[in-house]
Amino acid sequence: MAKLKVAILISGRGSNMAALIEAAKAADYPAEIALVVSNVAEAPGLAIARKEGVPTAVVSHRDRPDRETFDRAVSVELERHGVELVALAGFMRIFSPWFPTRWAGRLINIHPSLLPCFKGLHVQQQALDAGVRLSGCTVHFVIPDLDAGPIIAQAAVPVLADDTQDTLAARILRQEHRLYPLVVRWFAEGRVSLAGGRVAVTGAAPLLFSTDP
Ligand code: GRF
Repeated sequence: MAKLKVAILISGRGSNMAALIEAAKAADYPAEIALVVSNVAEAPGLAIARKEGVPTAVVSHRDRPDRETFDRAVSVELERHGVELVALAGFMRIFSPWFPTRWAGRLINIHPSLLPCFKGLHVQQQALDAGVRLSGCTVHFVIPDLDAGPIIAQAAVPVLADDTQDTLAARILRQEHRLYPLVVRWFAEGRVSLAGGRVAVTGAAPLLFSTDP
């Protein structure tokens, strides 16, 4: 059966991208990474993608007069590669409303908190300041409002008494690397559906718990 063509959009390190590329190497993985797009030419993740032989494109936001012009240029690249699902992974640009509308139901993001808690930036500091005992990561559909789309799956980890932003971020990141490839697999298997703003995943539990340090 044909594999689902996935694009990953990055701006930096690309560790979630690398986890998806790794997962897609398995012969029985139902998705292929058809393209990695970065808005930052120097993003370290681009070098990883190139080394893995994944097609890459750089679409700089600096050359574009407004957000929608940038979004349309990204979209042209995605269409050129026949992309069917767009996975944001540390992509640090806010879209115009045009992009999530164009890719509605086929645009997902991973965020390092249990949404709807702690949106935006400095997420781990927000969690530490709030004194929560659990945090984690969320894969969700992207809508024009930031970090607000329907939730597909989450992974939860404990917040420990001596955690810093860095130790908490690292614990969550390990779960991101498990969760994102899993969700993309479900997508490719046609198990994720969205109706009335609620997501259903058939035949799988869209929640991971980890007590790993
Ligand atoms: C991850 O924590 C992700 O949840 C957030 O940005 C970070 C990107 O890290 N959206 P990486 O580039 O995937 O290593």
